[in-house]
Amino acid sequence: MATDTVNIKITKVDNSRIESVDFENLPFGKFFSDHMFEMNYANGKWGEPTIVPFQNLSLHPATSALHYGQAIFEGLKAQKGANGEILVFRPDMNAKRFNESAKRMCMAPIPEGIFLEGLKSLLNLDRAWVSSKDGQSLYIRPFMIATDDYVGIRPSERYKFLIITSPVGAYYSEPVKVKIETKYTRAAAGGVGRAKAAGNYAASLYPAKLAEEQGYRQLIWTDAKTHTYIEEAGTMNVIFQIGDKLITPSEEEDTILKGITKRSVVQIAKEWGIEVEERKVTIAEIIEAMENGTLKDAFGAGTAATIAHISEIGYEGKDYKLPAIEEREISNKIKNYISQYKSGEIEDKFDWLMRV
Ligand code: PLP
Ligand code: COI
Repeated sequence: MATDTVNIKITKVDNSRIESVDFENLPFGKFFSDHMFEMNYANGKWGEPTIVPFQNLSLHPATSALHYGQAIFEGLKAQKGANGEILVFRPDMNAKRFNESAKRMCMAPIPEGIFLEGLKSLLNLDRAWVSSKDGQSLYIRPFMIATDDYVGIRPSERYKFLIITSPVGAYYSEPVKVKIETKYTRAAAGGVGRAKAAGNYAASLYPAKLAEEQGYRQLIWTDAKTHTYIEEAGTMNVIFQIGDKLITPSEEEDTILKGITKRSVVQIAKEWGIEVEERKVTIAEIIEAMENGTLKDAFGAGTAATIAHISEIGYEGKDYKLPAIEEREISNKIKNYISQYKSGEIEDKFDWLMRV
């Protein structure tokens, strides 16, 4: 994957903090690498791209992102290949989706070349933070916030773009018990569900907390209007296997995040001759398939979540147990393949890896 050349002003840390991180016991998202990428937008253009020591931000109390949520983010991962090379999975897709989110949230787009080159330089500097341990990776979090110090409502004229990185272990350490949510809504048609907008996640917290109190780890959201169609989970897209076919909600709905992991799963499955249907998926057909035993599998697909098997699905007070994980041939095979692909153990046949 080719990228452009961009001049980045780099200020290095005097001492790395890496020794303070226990890689034997690595949670998700609690530790951050030594440096971060930072670039500010003002007067209609982006300023100098910089890499600086990881540090707190100093923000005016009226910073508009803090009041009105004009804020977007991305999530992607890097792993270390056998020869010490850093491999980043499909970062061009994240750069594109970031700009789609920016457009919907009325924010300044980032030239893709700067997004990718900034990331490359940051990873190069913090290469020691990319773990080569099984099940670990460097989670990359690009994000942008509106920084006008103004409490009126209007699109900000200033923005801050940052990339921070965090060495991580598994997001879900075991198969996930989910609940199909039919009261609360994540996103409505015409809203911002397709964007990776910060507020989407804030809005999901309360219903997710209620579900957690009932013993569920995640929600499967349904359409806002009728609550009869499956959309996605809070942190991942969902894919079902009925018989030998994979079925997943279509991305045509503007309420669903266009997941890069799901896109990859669909492409791999089709390449292997597995039938995939991307269409509207009703709750009724999933319940029916669980009741008549044709639902062979359900799993989530996401960067943080990877391929996360669903162990049980709750719907209207009833829990349906899904088949044993060992029996889920297709998703296990895809999970292994993607895992090997990301760590460079197999050929990069789709040109999905950026190498640093
Ligand atoms: N859906 C939501 C709401 C998410 O937060 C994520 C995670 O990024 C996904 C789906 C999966 O997208 P991706 O595979 O691009 O990480
Ligand atoms: C991701 O998978 O990158 C996500 O954004 C999900 C979550 C950590 C919010």
